[in-house]
Amino acid sequence: MTKISSAVSNAAPADRVNTHQKVRKAVLPAAGLGTRFLPATKAQPKEMLAVVDKPQIQYVAEECVASGIEHIIIVTGKGKNSIEDHFDSAPALERFLEEKGKKDQAEMVRKISNMLQFSYTRQKEPLGLGHAVLVARDLVGDEPFAVLLGDVLIPGPNPATKQLINVYESTGVGAIAVEEVPRDKTHLYGIVDGEPAPQAPFGERLLRIRDLVEKPKPENAPSNLGITGRYVLPPAVFDCLARTKPGAGNEIQLTDALRILAREHGLWAYIYDGVSYDAGDKLGFLKATVELALQNPEFGAAFRSYLKTLKL
Ligand code: UTP
Repeated sequence: MTKISSAVSNAAPADRVNTHQKVRKAVLPAAGLGTRFLPATKAQPKEMLAVVDKPQIQYVAEECVASGIEHIIIVTGKGKNSIEDHFDSAPALERFLEEKGKKDQAEMVRKISNMLQFSYTRQKEPLGLGHAVLVARDLVGDEPFAVLLGDVLIPGPNPATKQLINVYESTGVGAIAVEEVPRDKTHLYGIVDGEPAPQAPFGERLLRIRDLVEKPKPENAPSNLGITGRYVLPPAVFDCLARTKPGAGNEIQLTDALRILAREHGLWAYIYDGVSYDAGDKLGFLKATVELALQNPEFGAAFRSYLKTLKL
C-alpha cells in the first residue's frame, strides 16, 4: 500500500466519533499585486474592490464566521493597509452615524470589526500563494487551518469552508474544494487527478487525490475538476511548503506543496456544493456583481426589471 492510500484510508469514517483537532483559524492571503485588474488595482487592493456594497474580502471573512472560524489571519503586503482599516473599529464614524440618528448603519459598521479575532502578517514580496501561506506559519502554529483566497467569492447558505471543515474533522485528512470546469478551460486552473473514494456522509463528492496538475492543456488534463480557492490543511503542509522550490512564474506555488502533502499525508478533493466567482478577474467580478445584485433583498427586484429592459 502506498503512503497516500494508507494515510487516507486510515482516516476515520465520517460517522464515527470525531477525535480530530477542531479547525479554528483561517489564513486569507491578500498580498498579490492584482495585475489582472489593472488599472483599478494600481493604488488599491483588489480584495477591497466592492461587489455590490461590500469589499470582496468581507464576503470571505463572513464565510469564515459562518463556518465557525474563530481567528482570521490576513497576509497583506505593500499598499494593503485599507484591508486592516476596514476590519478595525471606526469610533469617529460610529459616533457620527449615531448623532445623525443612523443607528442601523452605526451597528453595521460596528459589526464588521467585532466579527471575530483578526491578525495580520506581511509578505514582503509577492513570491507566490504558497509563500504567502508559509508567511502565516507562526500565527497558525501546530493546528489545522483553512485557507480562503481573498478574491474568490462563494456566496450561499452552505459555506464551502464549512463543508471542508466537516471533511477534515471527520477524517483528520486535509481537503480542498474542487468544482467542474469547462473541458476547454482546464489551462486556467489547477486540475485534480483523483479517484472516487465515497464514504458517508460525503458520498460521491469525496475523491482521494493522486496528483495535481497546474493549468494543463485540455488534452493533458486528468479530469475537469478545478481547484477553487478553499482549502483545509493540516499543519504538516508548512513543512511541504518549506521544501517547495519556485515553480510556475518563479513563484512558490501552493499547488506544488499540496502535491507533496497528498503523497506523504493524503489529501481529499471535495466537490463542494456551491458556485464560485473569481472576482480578481474582470469578467468574474462582473458576474459576481450581477448575481449578488439580483439576490439583494433591497433592490434585487428593481435591478432584475432594469436588466430586462436592456436590448441584448
Ligand atoms: P492571484 O494569483 O489571484 O493573485 O492569487 P494576484 O497575483 O494578485 O493576481 P494577478 O494574477 O496578478 O491578477 C490568489 C490570492 O493569493 C494572494 C492574492 O492576493 C489573492 O488573494 N497572493 C498571491 C498573495 O497573497 N501573495 C502572492 O505572492 C500571490
